[in-house]
Amino acid sequence: MTTALTWLGHSAWQIDTAGQRVLIDPFLTGNPTATLAASAATADFILVSHGHGDHVGDTVAIAKRTGATVISNFEITEWLAKQGVAKVHPMNTGGARNFPFGNLKLTIAHHTSMLPDGANGGNPCGFLIRLNDGRRIYHAADTGLFLDMQLIGEEGIDLAILPIGDNFTMGPDDALRAVRLINPKAVIPTHFGTWDVISQDAQAWVARVNSVTSTHAVVLKPGETYNL
Ligand code: NI
Ligand code: MN
Repeated sequence: MTTALTWLGHSAWQIDTAGQRVLIDPFLTGNPTATLAASAATADFILVSHGHGDHVGDTVAIAKRTGATVISNFEITEWLAKQGVAKVHPMNTGGARNFPFGNLKLTIAHHTSMLPDGANGGNPCGFLIRLNDGRRIYHAADTGLFLDMQLIGEEGIDLAILPIGDNFTMGPDDALRAVRLINPKAVIPTHFGTWDVISQDAQAWVARVNSVTSTHAVVLKPGETYNL
């Protein structure tokens, strides 16, 4: 079974697996690097890591148009329901559940989570997805480095998606330390290059990871797909 992961720019990802389409943090409108219009996005599920506008993004519009189920923390799903999203599934840190696309566990993330209108966005999270074929994807979302990444790595990560932009999240040096803690088979950087404040040389980071760890690091351009 091939799982296709397409970077939609910034921290937005589209995962096609088991006949299901999962969008993560679909920030498309206003994202200068987005390669997909929100009006063209399709989804069965949408995962939202925290309340910031560059992650909630177009979730409300896409969910209303497609009927996708939105999975996030309790506070964000309550807020989405108030915006008229019909299907939401609340979870919280450390909790896992089986969905048609696989098993999803919410991990900790060291960040903040206020929603665009100032509402309480609960605690930010990352996503640990165990695909139906047993392979695992860890999307760290917005976070600083934390030692518990080692616990996530103990689960056996096939692909990690890590922020490298710095300023709002881990930068390249801490993201390299994260790779050592997680020890994934492969890693792809995200949350960089959208604006000048998070501009990074991703090719240089990938070269470093490939030279000093046994993890296979790959950089995508927005719109490109990685087949797992
Ligand atoms: Ni954020
Ligand atoms: Mn962000």
